[in-house]
Amino acid sequence: MTKKVLITGGAGFIGSHLVDKLIEQKEYEVSILDTLEEQVHGKTDNPPSYLNKDSKFFRGSVTDYKKLEDLVKENEIIFHLAASVGVGQSMYQIEKYVDNNIHGLANLFDILVNSEHNVEKVIIASSNTVYGEAKSQCNKCGVVFPKLRLLDQLKHKDWELNCPKCGSKVKTLLTDENSPLNPSSIYAFSKQAQEKLSFMIGNTYGINTTILRFFLVYGTRQALSNPYTGVCSIFSTRALHGKPPIVFEDGNQTRDFVNVNDVCQALILAIEKNAANGEIFNVGTGTPITIKEVAEIISKKINPKLNPIYNQQFRIGDIRHCVADISKIKNKLGFSPTITFKEGIEDLIEWIKIQKEDFQEHSHKAMLELKEKGLLK
Ligand SMILES: NC(=O)c1ccc[n+]([C@@H]2O[C@H](COP(=O)([O-])OP(=O)(O)OC[C@H]3O[C@@H](n4cnc5c(N)ncnc54)[C@H](O)[C@@H]3O)[C@@H](O)[C@H]2O)c1
Ligand SMILES: [Zn+2]
Repeated sequence: MTKKVLITGGAGFIGSHLVDKLIEQKEYEVSILDTLEEQVHGKTDNPPSYLNKDSKFFRGSVTDYKKLEDLVKENEIIFHLAASVGVGQSMYQIEKYVDNNIHGLANLFDILVNSEHNVEKVIIASSNTVYGEAKSQCNKCGVVFPKLRLLDQLKHKDWELNCPKCGSKVKTLLTDENSPLNPSSIYAFSKQAQEKLSFMIGNTYGINTTILRFFLVYGTRQALSNPYTGVCSIFSTRALHGKPPIVFEDGNQTRDFVNVNDVCQALILAIEKNAANGEIFNVGTGTPITIKEVAEIISKKINPKLNPIYNQQFRIGDIRHCVADISKIKNKLGFSPTITFKEGIEDLIEWIKIQKEDFQEHSHKAMLELKEKGLLK
């Protein structure tokens, strides 16, 4: 017997890879609900050409209660991936981010509580941004959770994190799921709200819910037309247009880049393993990579003459470090990342090279908007 799966946002980057993987397994029938946001897909009435032909595509929004309800009632597993995803942009398109990300998820759980349905599991795509800064070690105070850096500190190009207790510089640790949450953008706040609402209703009504906190996901099909998200595709697209990557701060900030295929592995483990029910998991690699390394690897592969620009600018609200502690998902679900950054980035660059439509470069637009709003200094 096949299981019926609904993926909201399934025409997007992560969702479309998940569609392929589920259909490959031959145990799932996949339906997709997606608005085809213009910022992600360009102006179009048709689902992207990469979308698996064996899936059923429905155009519509998770904010449309009736449309979502009809699909929820027909399915047994729900992956809720639909969202607006630009961290910086969320700080000036506040209504849109709250509507798509919080109202959309509220509809889903309202339907699960009030309609007759056969849904057995719900998986929510959350984000590392809910943490804010990384768990850290202070030589004097032990484990601490630094606050967001203040404007004054950043203006002095004093980039590294301070201990919130004694003020000395701290060493970055891997961040685990028990770390306190400290979102610093409306996007991150909307993800925290999604988490709270899902567990509050899920626990009350016995709806099996799993939250996956993705770190920085990269891979093929990441929207090249969307300059608001995805540093790997932004740097690669710029480099292929003969423009060097522009790196904020000094480039030594670290992130955890996880390949989209490994994210799909985590998503599928979340539905296959009962140990996932009612739990939150980090989905990353546990390996820090600096933005400087990303810029250098990409420039070297695409055009070695392009030297990354370090212009010492910074974005208000940006975190300095955050890398996943993945012990929990390894131990409980048997997750194991399979693709190193160096391997994954090759695939991404090869894919970007053969994209014809959409292959324009819009990063200046996103930077201009941030500057106009006073969010890029
Ligand atoms: N890419 C990352 O690095 C990353 C990291 C952490 C979390 N996430 C989360 O993973 C999920 C998928 O992200 P992605 O990177 O694939 O983004 P994406 O923009 O490629 O995909 C999102 C899809 O959702 C659709 N969509 C947007 N609003 C919608 C609505 N109201 N109703 C229905 N569809 C809607 C878009 O058209 C798009 O196809 C999101 O929830 C995102 O917050 C992504
Ligand atoms: Zn201290």
